[in-house]
Parts: sequence; structure tokens; C-alpha cells
Amino acid sequence: MSKTPQNVSIGKLPLHVAMIMDGNGRWALSRGLPRIAGHKAGTENLRRVIRATVEFGIKYLTIYAFSTENWGRPPEEVKGLMYILEDVIDRELKELHDEGVQLRHIGRLERLAPTLQKKVLDAIEVTKTNDRLILNIAFNYGGRDEIVQAIQRIIKDGVSPDNITDELVNQYLYTKGVPDPDLIIRTSGELRVSNFLIWQAAYSEWYVTPTYWPDFDKEEYRRALETFAGRDRRYGKVSSNEYEASSA
Ligand code: FPP
Repeated sequence: MSKTPQNVSIGKLPLHVAMIMDGNGRWALSRGLPRIAGHKAGTENLRRVIRATVEFGIKYLTIYAFSTENWGRPPEEVKGLMYILEDVIDRELKELHDEGVQLRHIGRLERLAPTLQKKVLDAIEVTKTNDRLILNIAFNYGGRDEIVQAIQRIIKDGVSPDNITDELVNQYLYTKGVPDPDLIIRTSGELRVSNFLIWQAAYSEWYVTPTYWPDFDKEEYRRALETFAGRDRRYGKVSSNEYEASSA
């Protein structure tokens, strides 16, 4: 991997990019392949996207690999996705570590096989001091589940209602300490949030592309970043130019 950030022509870079890697199944179907072949191609693409993220100089990347709803898929597909997570850790951990990537997990680990849980925890431990890229893997993750758990823990901790603020809720989420995603990229053209980072995405910018995830390449990633750089983020207010003009 190149050590030089290649963001020079992109302009304002997002600090945190999140991705819904959708369309693996349709990618496979369109080639007459089984769905799991789409997930394998998607995994290959994930390697390229992580590399590009490091090269662009982005600090946080969150990827949606398995949702709390994905348990409802056919058992062989669920098994395949579990295997992919294990395989990614086995094969990629060394390179990710060498590149300064810190792995984190968001979601519920407890439903995974104990050996897989241990692998995930070991990978987190090994990479915990890396700081070139923080890579959050959302696996068995659901946004509502995250919020429900946060509420349960806030109540258990006896927090008084008057002390419940945005900042306090943030402290109870899996993403504690992680800035909200600036840009969320969704492949395969679906226009929905799919229970992904529903609290954290309050003011995220979206880039939705019809491209299936296995075909989402560095050039399109760059275009998404360029689109983001051209957005006027108002956070519910008016743009600073307009404000200055109206108060002059
Ligand atoms: C959605 O496409 C994709 C997923 C549910 C899995 C995403 C997984 C990867 C990209 C592989 C990397 C995984 C790990 C664990 C690191 P879909 O299957 O819903 O596609 P479809 O909408 O076309 O059916």
C-alpha cells in the first residue's frame, strides 16, 4: 500500500465514511453464480476499498457486513458470511496490522461461535494501538438494537432524566468516541437506511450508486468523495454565505 495520502484533488475529505455494501447477491445472480460467490467477490472488493481508504487518508471507515436481520437468510448463506469473517481475520490481519489499521467491532458478538468471538477479540487486541485507519466492522449489528441496549444501560446506571443528553447517549453506543459518519455510501441503488447507524447518521451525507458492491471501485469511491466535498452541510441551519449576506 502507498504511504502517501492521495487526497490532493478531492478537497474536503470526510473524517468518517460508512458503507452499506449491498448488491452481492444480485451481482452473483447476474452471472449465474450462487449468492455466496457474490459475497466472496464482495470480500475481495472490501480489501481494495480498505486499501483505497488508507490511501485517501480517511481516518474512520465503518462497514456493514452482517445485520441483526441477516440471521433470517438461508442457513448456508449465514454460515458462509460467518466463514468469511473468520477467513478475513485469518488472512488479512497481518497486512491490516502492518498498515496501521485498528480493527473494531460494533454489534452483538455473543451470538457468534465462541471461536469466532475469540478471533474477533484477538484481532481487536492486536491492533488496538494502530491509528492510521480505524476500521469498524458492523457484524450482527442493528441500529435499533444498539439504541435499545443504550437505553437499558442508561436506566441500569440510574442516570437522571435531566442528565440525558445527546452526548450522554453517544457514550452508551458501540461508536463511543467515534465521530459521526460524515458520508455514507450505499451500493446497488436501494434508497433505505436498513437499520444502519440510525442515531449516528442524523446529519450524514449520502451517496447512493446503482453499482453492485463487488464492482464499486476506487474511481467511483473517489467520485463519491468529490461529491461529498462539493456538498453544503447545513445541519438544519442556513449556509454560512447566506447568513453573512442576510446580516450584512
Ligand atoms: C448485502 O448484499 C451484503 C451483505 C449482507 C454482506 C456483505 C458482506 C461482504 C461484502 C463481505 C465482507 C464480509 C465480512 C464479514 C468482512 P446482498 O446479499 O443483500 O445483495 P442483494 O441485495 O443483491 O441480494
